[in-house]
Amino acid sequence: MNLLMCPVCRQGLTLAGHSWRCVNNHHYDVAKQGYVNLHVVQHKHSKNPGDTVASVQARRAFLSAGFYATLQQAVVSRIGELRIENLLDIGCGEGYYTQAMQDQVMQCVGVDIAKNAIQVAAKLNRQVTWVVGTGATLPVLDHCIDLCTSLFSPIPRQEILRVLKPKAWLMVVTPAPEHLFALREALFDEVRVHEPQKFIAQLQDDFELVDQQVVESELNLSNEHLKNLIAMTPYAYKARPEKRQLLEQQQLLTVRASFQMYLFQKK
Ligand SMILES: C[S@@+](CC[C@H](N)C(=O)[O-])C[C@H]1O[C@@H](n2cnc3c(N)ncnc32)[C@H](O)[C@@H]1O
Ligand SMILES: [Zn+2]
Repeated sequence: MNLLMCPVCRQGLTLAGHSWRCVNNHHYDVAKQGYVNLHVVQHKHSKNPGDTVASVQARRAFLSAGFYATLQQAVVSRIGELRIENLLDIGCGEGYYTQAMQDQVMQCVGVDIAKNAIQVAAKLNRQVTWVVGTGATLPVLDHCIDLCTSLFSPIPRQEILRVLKPKAWLMVVTPAPEHLFALREALFDEVRVHEPQKFIAQLQDDFELVDQQVVESELNLSNEHLKNLIAMTPYAYKARPEKRQLLEQQQLLTVRASFQMYLFQKK
């Protein structure tokens, strides 16, 4: 089944050779790395939107060292329980979670606005359909998705409602209140706790919360991974520079990661 939608005329796309085409003959070549760019100029606000190359590389190094494997496992096993066909991962980044999701479903589409992230992702797994695109106009057809996931990424509510089948699912993963508290204490004068419940409030008109789970793990970070963790988060530019410098001299840091996983169902 073809899930992708032409971003120009909103018709379905079919793969012919190395190109995705619609009935109106708009076509989008599959890049040699194996992804397709459906982020058309009309929808673009900047030339290289999304995360920077440095933050993508830092995230790749950190995640592939397995620090968030507990979360990956929790996400994947919850998805397995749903027994679904089509999954759309919104803001999939360099695909650490997305590629593991693929094993639980028939078709998995990973979309991200950052081309450099999708290029890294496409190398990981050839089964996932990797797309450069925007959450503002999700590049998939109406009512064909069983589960949308957004892990630390934007949640374009109207677009999610459009692409989901009736009674389909939305999984949101976001920092729990005390996520990386010791790290943030070292970087900021004042640490505000995260407020994951705000997502429940934002979504409650259209989605029912069916399940919530906190996933935690203790991270023992070497200096290298401490730097990667800082570089892959917004702390990199939000922190006081002198505090960041001081922290980055530390040879070892133990910190607790704490994630809130919500599963919603479309009303
Ligand atoms: C914090 S990262 C999370 C990446 C991935 N889900 C993970 O957990 O490793 C947020 C991602 O959202 C992407 N993003 C930001 N705005 C977006 C938009 N409007 N449409 C699609 N992706 C977007 C960024 O490029 C980035 O890769
Ligand atoms: Zn078209």
